[in-house]
Amino acid sequence: MAYKVPDLPYPYDALEPHISEETMRLHHDKHHQAYVDKANSALAGSEWEDVRPKEILTRLAELPDDLRETVRNNAGGQYNHCMFWRSMSPDGGGQPEGKLSRAIKDTFDSFARFKETLTEAGLSVFGSGWAWLVFDGKRVFIVTTTNQDNPVSDGLTPLLGLDVWEHAYYLTYENRRPDYIEAFFNVIDWDVVAERFAEAPRPDVSDILDRTVSISGAQKRYGDISYDDARTQAAELKALTGWGPMAKVGTVARAWTALSVTLERHGAATVTDLEPSEVAQMAEELWIVPPSRSMV
Ligand SMILES: [Fe+2]
Repeated sequence: MAYKVPDLPYPYDALEPHISEETMRLHHDKHHQAYVDKANSALAGSEWEDVRPKEILTRLAELPDDLRETVRNNAGGQYNHCMFWRSMSPDGGGQPEGKLSRAIKDTFDSFARFKETLTEAGLSVFGSGWAWLVFDGKRVFIVTTTNQDNPVSDGLTPLLGLDVWEHAYYLTYENRRPDYIEAFFNVIDWDVVAERFAEAPRPDVSDILDRTVSISGAQKRYGDISYDDARTQAAELKALTGWGPMAKVGTVARAWTALSVTLERHGAATVTDLEPSEVAQMAEELWIVPPSRSMV
């Protein structure tokens, strides 16, 4: 099945004044179409003809040598631009909410610092390429790629791609890439980015959630632990502090207090509602699973 350029999910002039109608027409109708045409002509008749772009980008090493670079650039062009159009909206801008907002703050401390970092990344791309917000199953961070490479080739989930090819901005912003990046922030559709984050693969922590811990003499599943449970456990362990055989009990008591704070901060009813990466990391600090590193 040959690739196609999808229609824009909004009119060509919908992103004005941030991204001009003229830019959108050229970028979507000419540049994106050119990637699609070149990808189709390279793939036609090959065993890769029916493989979706995302899968091709994760299996580049398997492509025949005479196809690899052409397909990498043009299947990449197709995948990247399909994502790009859907990442923008005339109702975009502002900041993400919910779990994505927390993940961004966990990594960058604030949305403002995230914005600065993505901007710096976009400006750092020499020549043509992209700056990305990606997720590795544990945390979000920023990477850049050159040409039409996509982070999915490195096993990462792309959440948001900023196209910094000159064709994305030159008609309006000429050589002023910083002004284009600033404008891009006014059209980011954070709902779409949040959906990608929610659907991204995560490590399986079900065996950790099913472990049990004794709280006030009753066995409780880690995944079912609530704010009140965590506070109770923290208080009971704190009372043991200083008791010889429990040398590290103070550290563990503090970890239970930290768990209660985390549950409250995330509005999570139980540990099951937290991000898997947090579930796994805290399980070590709470000694629900043996720590992989020194807890001193
Ligand atoms: Fe582009």
